[in-house]
Amino acid sequence: MKTRAVVAGLGTYVPEAILTNHDLEKIVDTSDEWIVTRTGIRERHIAREDETTSSMATEASRFALKDAQIEAEDLDFIVCATNTPDTIFPSTAARVQHQLTDKPIPGVDLQAGCTGLIYGMEMASALIQAGSYHNILVIGADKLTSITDYEDRTTAVLFGDAAGAFVLQRKEDTDHGVLSSYLQADGRGGNLLIQPGGGSLMPASKESVENRQHYLKMNGNETFRFAVKALPEAVEEGLKRAGLTVGDMNLLVPHQANLRIIDAAVRRFELDPERVVVNIDRYGNTSVATIPLALQEARMEGRLHDGDVVVLCAFGAGLSWGSNVIRWGK
Ligand code: COA
Repeated sequence: MKTRAVVAGLGTYVPEAILTNHDLEKIVDTSDEWIVTRTGIRERHIAREDETTSSMATEASRFALKDAQIEAEDLDFIVCATNTPDTIFPSTAARVQHQLTDKPIPGVDLQAGCTGLIYGMEMASALIQAGSYHNILVIGADKLTSITDYEDRTTAVLFGDAAGAFVLQRKEDTDHGVLSSYLQADGRGGNLLIQPGGGSLMPASKESVENRQHYLKMNGNETFRFAVKALPEAVEEGLKRAGLTVGDMNLLVPHQANLRIIDAAVRRFELDPERVVVNIDRYGNTSVATIPLALQEARMEGRLHDGDVVVLCAFGAGLSWGSNVIRWGK
């Protein structure tokens, strides 16, 4: 029994509008058949122009707070994982605080590609275990369509918009909560998945806009190769740190980037599909929001039980990869 960060609340938000593969056939040279076979994606939700990362994050956070039965004023920290902040500064975390309450709450944005949510859970859990924080809001929110190039068929078909939020809460003498995490990053693969323009390396200019440098660029094949190795490593290393093995895992909640990447992990671990959450067909890759969306869906379907060992794992730009091992329940 230890002091741990337990998941006291979970909330998600998905924009209403749906972009199907057939819609995409009218925008780029692609086909529903190609997208389904190569990625498993059938449709994705896309935000309205007036919906931003912070507005989606705020909606998800409201649901998470309600689920945790606490008020925004009870929060003592906000970690917002995102790769598409409303603005580089001020932070999306501060924008969410402002949309939730007039009470100041410290907060930061965290950028670790699609692994950001996993990093956020570990950092919040560590802050809670260190003793100074009680309730931390961990958000994963991205409006990837704002940096998706709809003239590039190799990336245009992959991404959607969404937000998810966890309330992590300090609990003493418990078996539940975040048991362990495994975090990794290796900048040697940085160019495989990159938004080249807009930072200090390539400030916005007429040329950077004309050359479409403010959109996400990806080497799909190399990223795929990295992901099929990173995902199982993250699962195994996270479990090892908790003194557990794959056999102890009740539910795997993998980042939803490509069904073939998930299937490779399922085959490698010889997992019963019942133990793996997959919803990429309806949302595409929503970056840091894929895991809360998938976990919420599993919960709604009654697939999460008190005491279950749940493994969240992701990979993405950086390159980054990692996992959180959680014993489900408050
Ligand atoms: N529609 C139709 N054809 C397409 C296409 C599309 N949307 N995108 C690419 N193609 C074509 C390519 O041009 C290529 O044609 P060619 O053989 O004539 O050159 C062919 O399909 C195969 O392309 P390839 O890139 O080898 O396909 P793939 O099977 O590797 O699938 C991805 C591409 C992007 C789906 C896949 O590599 C992937 O998912 N990578 C990992 C991405 C990821 O995880 N990113 C997020 C990390 S958070």
